[in-house]
Amino acid sequence: MAEPVPAVGADGDPTPLLRDSALERIELELLLEGIYRQYGFYFRSYAYASIRRRLWKRIEEEGLSTVTDLQNRVLHEPEMMEKLLLDLSINVTAMFRDPQFYRVFREQVVPTLRTYPFIRIWHAGCATGEEVYSMAILLQEEGLYDRSRIYATDINEVVLQKAKSGIFPIERMQEYTENYIGAGGKQSFSDYYTAKYDGALFSPALTKNVVFSQHNLVTDRSFSEFNVILCRNVLIYFDRSLQAKVHRLFYDSLVNFGILGLGGKESLKFSQYEDCYEQISSEKIYRKVR
Ligand SMILES: C[S@@+](CC[C@H](N)C(=O)[O-])C[C@H]1O[C@@H](n2cnc3c(N)ncnc32)[C@H](O)[C@@H]1O
Repeated sequence: MAEPVPAVGADGDPTPLLRDSALERIELELLLEGIYRQYGFYFRSYAYASIRRRLWKRIEEEGLSTVTDLQNRVLHEPEMMEKLLLDLSINVTAMFRDPQFYRVFREQVVPTLRTYPFIRIWHAGCATGEEVYSMAILLQEEGLYDRSRIYATDINEVVLQKAKSGIFPIERMQEYTENYIGAGGKQSFSDYYTAKYDGALFSPALTKNVVFSQHNLVTDRSFSEFNVILCRNVLIYFDRSLQAKVHRLFYDSLVNFGILGLGGKESLKFSQYEDCYEQISSEKIYRKVR
């Protein structure tokens, strides 16, 4: 039987070095298969090293010793699945993250959006919603918010609840103010929030046209046609086959000449849809052209 060697990785990584990593891989694949069949969350094609590290973090915290121990708990206790879902999803985000992205969006995409009577935007993998509020602010400043509908989805219900609350850490407002200015913001950023409940409470007007909803990019289908899909810093955690699946979903969900926005480290290169889009800026903003 494979036993974890107590030593941890040199960089402080809690993942034990295993005597039988082939067996651990079997256990890990069985766990991910079980999660998919029991709960419908598909993590089988996520980057292996990253999944392994996260699973071991949970194993350690629960005082367990093998992946199979964790499987037993996860399959029988939905609460353990909830904890694991939080471990497995990386929810790091920020308002006006990569300000240049929003600046280019404002300068090069907004003029096209102005020509539409109604604008449908999908933020896929929105985490705690900071990018959704950023987009709402941008659209409001451009006079487009009232004819926009924003669908904000994530696999993780816990982060969506935070997104809905509109309360964000007050200590990040300085950083967000700088991002907002870099993104071409037209007002004073502090006009959009009030200090409350030890946090910054954003104006409810920003979410009046936003629908927050749980959606799994891997297992759920498209639910509408969109003029803009933003899916930033999500695909980076998927392997090639899963990325291909999600790109198909996006292609099918975008109107002709619709816009796809990806994260700084993501691209359409090597995807089967590479030729169907033109890149309109180095900020990973693409237009569907065929
Ligand atoms: C790093 S955050 C990115 C947040 C935001 N888009 C940004 O760029 O700041 C990645 C988000 O993707 C979500 N995610 C991971 N797998 C997903 C899936 N299969 N379907 C939907 N969302 C997923 C995670 O829950 C997490 O909130």
